[in-house]
Amino acid sequence: MEPEGQKRTTRLGILISGRGSNFLAIANSIREGRLNGVEIAVVISNVADAPGLEKARELGFATAVFISKGRPRAEHDAAVAACLHEHRVDLVCLAGYMRLLSPEFIGAFPYRILNIHPSLLPAFAGLEAQQQAFDYGVKIAGCTVHFVDEHLDHGAIILQRAIPVLDSDDAHSLAARILAEEHIAYSEAIARVVSGEYEIRGRRYVRRQEPSTR
Ligand code: GAR
Repeated sequence: MEPEGQKRTTRLGILISGRGSNFLAIANSIREGRLNGVEIAVVISNVADAPGLEKARELGFATAVFISKGRPRAEHDAAVAACLHEHRVDLVCLAGYMRLLSPEFIGAFPYRILNIHPSLLPAFAGLEAQQQAFDYGVKIAGCTVHFVDEHLDHGAIILQRAIPVLDSDDAHSLAARILAEEHIAYSEAIARVVSGEYEIRGRRYVRRQEPSTR
């Protein structure tokens, strides 16, 4: 039983498709005490040989694989949702999970699914966002953490981190510097959502004002 007055730990379900560096950054934030009141309940991949999955196993996290290839979206998403419920997940974090989610899945976790995208949305949604930004010639790039809705890289924005694009950059160096920002942004966004100190006004995520002490 939870001690009286103590807030229950928020259980994260992390969905990955590949490398898993954002998952590891979240795990490190928790381990190092920079992200409190949160634990990773399960790491789920839709790709059997995702390197992030192997790292999750090595670190002793519960893991699951649901191969999405060739399976109807609704059926696949229902299996993933069931697994998340089984692990009593409160907040779903897409961390390089390269799939659109079905409306049923999104409805099962209202405002409880976050995604990270390596651009300053709404610019450069979709694949290879960093290359898109580089090719477009933007001078400011960055990353976005947002709530997930039924559209690609689209829901209400929780936070963004921006960096200058340097004349010396190529798409690779730009992507690496954006990734370093992602690793800070995701834990911060999770902390903000877990705090509950916000409202959604239309598309706008707005932090609640601190009560004035005067
Ligand atoms: C990250 O750059 C993430 O922002 C991006 O995939 C990469 C996953 O890296 N996600 C998207 O583009 C979603 N539209 P990781 O597996 O090392 O976290």
